[in-house]
Amino acid sequence: MSVLSTSPEEAGTSIPADPVSADAARPLGPVVMHRLAEMHAYVSALREQGLTVGLVPTMGALHAGHLSLVDALQQEVDTVIVSIFVNPTQFAPGDDYDSYPRTLDADVELLATVGVDAVFAPTPAEMYPQGELRTSILPGLPGRYFEGKTRPTHFAGALTVVNKLLNIVQPDVAAFGEKDFQQLVLVTNMVADLNLPVRILPVPIRRDTDGLALSSRNARLSETERVTALFLSKAVLAVQRQCVDGALPSEAKRVGLSLLEAQPGIEVDYLEIVEPQTFVPVADDVAGAARVILAARVGQVRLIDNAAVEIAGPSTEENA
Ligand code: PAF
Repeated sequence: MSVLSTSPEEAGTSIPADPVSADAARPLGPVVMHRLAEMHAYVSALREQGLTVGLVPTMGALHAGHLSLVDALQQEVDTVIVSIFVNPTQFAPGDDYDSYPRTLDADVELLATVGVDAVFAPTPAEMYPQGELRTSILPGLPGRYFEGKTRPTHFAGALTVVNKLLNIVQPDVAAFGEKDFQQLVLVTNMVADLNLPVRILPVPIRRDTDGLALSSRNARLSETERVTALFLSKAVLAVQRQCVDGALPSEAKRVGLSLLEAQPGIEVDYLEIVEPQTFVPVADDVAGAARVILAARVGQVRLIDNAAVEIAGPSTEENA
């Protein structure tokens, strides 16, 4: 299927003057824009018509997980825009920036099937005309642990590009997946701390029928590695079940870790049960809502997963 697309070279010649009436004449799929100026004009036209706007920021290689973000947003706003940009500043040297899948045509086709209105797919030069970043957003304390510890520059890059995308698109609502739970918390904090005029819509993890959390990186797993990777969701869900059954956090965590350690081909980075706002590991004498978070390498592919857990707290004479 062909898609409506403006190449960066053509940019400026195809700004849709009226995105709504353009819709009727555009059965082929979303409007694809590469330039900031196009995006501004598109959103201004929507605003003039009093339409609300939602943004799903992505790095492409889209799958059903992204479509659930689109679906959640379609319930909330008139127009859904998906940004597709593999953001170089959130990858460190040695990360998978070069090998990260780039599948723009297939992504646009997929988005056409669910009625997405527009795609914003800028080039790195369009997003970072100065080359180097001169200003960036640093996450607070919760961003220094776990993903922030393993990938020390990752969240500054991700928050900065999210901030830029929110400024460029100026959506009423932006959807983020719980799959990247730490990112979701940091983005929500950024929006509150910097008084950004947008509402963040969290969307639950979408899993394959066998439990594997959907991720663009799953495409890089071999068949055997994919089978091995299933133990990540098994471990997370086992920890969750242990907590439901009243296990102490340290016991629940041990069950998850031993499941993973019994599997050749999995290298665990972390598995922890944390307080969901601060990311401080929960002690055995607390009760309440927490999150089990996990990162592990399967072959060359680093995957993350998580789930909400409810800690019953230590048994006392009264509740024993
Ligand atoms: O979650 C992602 O795909 C990326 O971190 C995001 C939010 C699109 C920023 O590049």
